[in-house]
Amino acid sequence: MSYDSSTKQTKVIARDLYYANGVEISPDQDFVIFCETVMLRCKRYYIQGEKAGSIDVFIDRLPGMPDNIRYDGEGYYWIAIPTELTFEWDLARKYPYIRKFIAFLDKYFQRPSTERNAGVVVVDLDGKPIERYYDPELKFVTTGIKIGEHLYLGNLMKSYITRLNLTQYPATTTSSTK
Ligand SMILES: *[C@@H]1O[C@H](CO)[C@@H](O)[C@H](O)[C@H]1NC(C)=O
Repeated sequence: MSYDSSTKQTKVIARDLYYANGVEISPDQDFVIFCETVMLRCKRYYIQGEKAGSIDVFIDRLPGMPDNIRYDGEGYYWIAIPTELTFEWDLARKYPYIRKFIAFLDKYFQRPSTERNAGVVVVDLDGKPIERYYDPELKFVTTGIKIGEHLYLGNLMKSYITRLNLTQYPATTTSSTK
């Protein structure tokens, strides 16, 4: 929704989204990026220019479910990934009764968590993936932001913030990702 503080009017600018999450504006304020967590994608809403009012896909087929997006002031968005799409999450996103069952388990039992490969995906202003930081044992990373030479990671389940020195630990090239 868009709120105009001068007129105090709120208007709906995007509907029928699948778990809208993580909103970030572009440096020129000409578009807004937002994620659809369970669809593994982020979309772009154009605020001004020729495409004003329209929405397109900014990045899709992310390596996991996106959460918050942060812009680093240097041309890159940092998209937090709390988990890759596990078998359980894939079932849960498709079937409401599986979600009910999981919610029931979470309420009364200690459910073994299957989340993995959390981290961040770094994307340029055109939505092109540049780098990815992740770890098989990491889960529930909800925010990642680069400030200076460090990457700071917020986590849904932890009471602390993780800091990684990117000069010391730059993304390295592997077969499919950097
Ligand atoms: C980050 O790592 C670089 C390279 O190892 C080092 O020169 C720098 O001092 C480190 N920064 C901090 C704040 O530790």
